[in-house]
Amino acid sequence: MRKSDSIIIIGSLMVVFAATLAVVYWPVFTIPNRPSDLWRPLTDLEERGRRLYIANGCTNCHSQYIRPQDWGIGAERISQAGDYYNQRPHLLGSERTGPDLAQEGGEHSDDWHIAHFINPRFTSPRSLMPRFAYEGMDNIKALVAYVQSLGGDDADARMEIQRRFHKEAVAAYERGPDENVKWLHSRVPKTWRAMPSESPATEASVARGEKIYQDFCIGCHGPVGDGNGPAAEHLYPPPLNFTILRRHLVDGKYIGGILYYQIMNGITGTAMPYFKKHLESAKIWDVGNYIMVNFINWRDDQLPTEGIPASYEGKEAAPVSEQPQPGPTEPGRGGAR
Ligand code: HEC
Ligand code: HEC
Repeated sequence: MRKSDSIIIIGSLMVVFAATLAVVYWPVFTIPNRPSDLWRPLTDLEERGRRLYIANGCTNCHSQYIRPQDWGIGAERISQAGDYYNQRPHLLGSERTGPDLAQEGGEHSDDWHIAHFINPRFTSPRSLMPRFAYEGMDNIKALVAYVQSLGGDDADARMEIQRRFHKEAVAAYERGPDENVKWLHSRVPKTWRAMPSESPATEASVARGEKIYQDFCIGCHGPVGDGNGPAAEHLYPPPLNFTILRRHLVDGKYIGGILYYQIMNGITGTAMPYFKKHLESAKIWDVGNYIMVNFINWRDDQLPTEGIPASYEGKEAAPVSEQPQPGPTEPGRGGAR
């Protein structure tokens, strides 16, 4: 066949038509237009939040779909067409400057979200998300209602758990600081309570922990660990004052396992997030060691340990179990070595 102008034009149009048919019309006719197992309609407040989400351009940084390869942000539930039933416009988004929000509902408590919208650096010190304080508290509450609805019925189930524990957490907090710590620790399984540290509080570990603390925790627990970070005024119960933990060492020695467990899992029902998706094990030990040495005024680097010290710390770092049990040390002075 000769390549005439008209054949090139007709050929190009056919290619465009075939592509449009495959990616636009084909799905419209083959994917059934019905809600998925977890879809539910939005309430009026959530719908208002959705409008604010569109108006503020949240889609420029956040997607709302989870793909099979998105391990780590919820690939337990892959997004389905029915999740977007009745959504016009849908808010899939294509940018992921921030995390995907398809299953955001119930991941955090309401007070965490309020502090976060007022200024994301309060709860997430390294965040580049803009502040939304200018929206005013009414609109922020609508935004919170909307993000807590993301994930439909699954989000509602998570919110149910948040609310149940929130009641317990508030009641414990109102009984006073020591009762509060007792309640917090009653949530830690027994084996974790008197656990010898897998990663002793060496100088290197504490130094690494300081950086992690500044990147993730300082906005709530504050620079001196007394719970007076800038987020605190928006949170109830407020962030824990770590110095109180000195009175709650287990067997007069152990606290590292408790810190580890709480940092890993968070305190559901309060603003304390879980860090199991953000920090790997060694970092959780390190930040726990930093808290222990600097705020609780305690160190466990001479307790017998079950773990292998991080290899790059050399022989010095190895715990010496023959040495006498450690006594109280002054903060930041390097401890009794
Ligand atoms: C410039 C990009 C950007 C914009 C615009 C933006 N965000 Fe974010 N968002 C981020 C980043 C980055 C994070 C992760 C750090 C953090 O927690 O702040 C984040 C985190 C979040 C989280 C917490 C997710 C989690 O569970 O850790 C929520 C909820 C959220 N954003 C909602 C919104 C909403 C609603 C809007 C619009 C009103 C918005 N964001 C606008 C970048 C953005
Ligand atoms: C958004 C605020 C917030 C951030 C960020 C935060 N925390 Fe918390 N944290 C809390 C609140 C609130 C509580 C306790 C609530 C209560 O008393 O019921 C808490 C409790 C804890 C506890 C429980 C102590 C115990 O003995 O049971 C530990 C440990 C802890 N935080 C460590 C951390 C570390 C480490 C980081 C950073 C990696 C961090 N927190 C980041 C708010 C926060």
